[in-house]
Amino acid sequence: MSETHHQHDHVDAAGRDPHGQAYWDARYASRERIWSGEPNRQLVAEAASLPPRRALDVGCGEGADALWLAERGWRVTAVDVSEVALARAAARARELGHAVAGRVAWEQADAREWAPPVAAYELVSAQYLHFAPEVRPQVVRRLAAAVAPGGVLLYVGHDPSDLDVVPRPHPELLPAASEVGRLLDGEAWDVEVAEARPRPATHRGQELTLHDAVLRARRRG
Ligand SMILES: C[S@@+](CC[C@H](N)C(=O)[O-])C[C@H]1O[C@@H](n2cnc3c(N)ncnc32)[C@H](O)[C@@H]1O
Repeated sequence: MSETHHQHDHVDAAGRDPHGQAYWDARYASRERIWSGEPNRQLVAEAASLPPRRALDVGCGEGADALWLAERGWRVTAVDVSEVALARAAARARELGHAVAGRVAWEQADAREWAPPVAAYELVSAQYLHFAPEVRPQVVRRLAAAVAPGGVLLYVGHDPSDLDVVPRPHPELLPAASEVGRLLDGEAWDVEVAEARPRPATHRGQELTLHDAVLRARRRG
């Protein structure tokens, strides 16, 4: 996701739930494209050296991450609450040809309620999917349960340390990586990375350094 200035989670003028389908369908439908089309830099950094197996991309948006993984040979399940985003992602996949398109299954689901299959993926990636503290523990634990033994859970979000630079209406949506890591069962997981990682960004036309909350945890085999 390299849109650098995010409209942020709030109930919109029409009163739509900012984590629901109506909000996100309207947001995607309002523009031909929202995100850059490039895979997220933290996914590339963390997954480029992993052997391609089965991946789950939750909150896949317009599909750049899922397609990057598929191009590298992963079989990907890509999930989003927005049908508009999924249709756009699937169209992009078709442009890339049968081999890539055939490796991605696009699925509509609301991650707040949806339980992915257990121990089914060597990589579960959630990039900039921010949830309220009340639902976050269940969502993170269900995503963690989907990771196969030896596999990786990758959580990337906006780090709360930038809130004074980029004010957000709902700071409670942005946990530090360590806070997300604490939701995992310490007996079953090794937290390999939990940090605020700098990245170059543009905010309101100004070049600056922002930080991503990056958690990479590996399920013990
Ligand atoms: C900030 S965007 C990030 C998109 C993509 N991961 C990227 O980095 O380009 C958040 C995405 O999560 C999706 N989303 C929001 N709430 C969701 C929910 N409850 N369940 C599943 N997806 C959701 C949105 O439709 C949107 O595509």
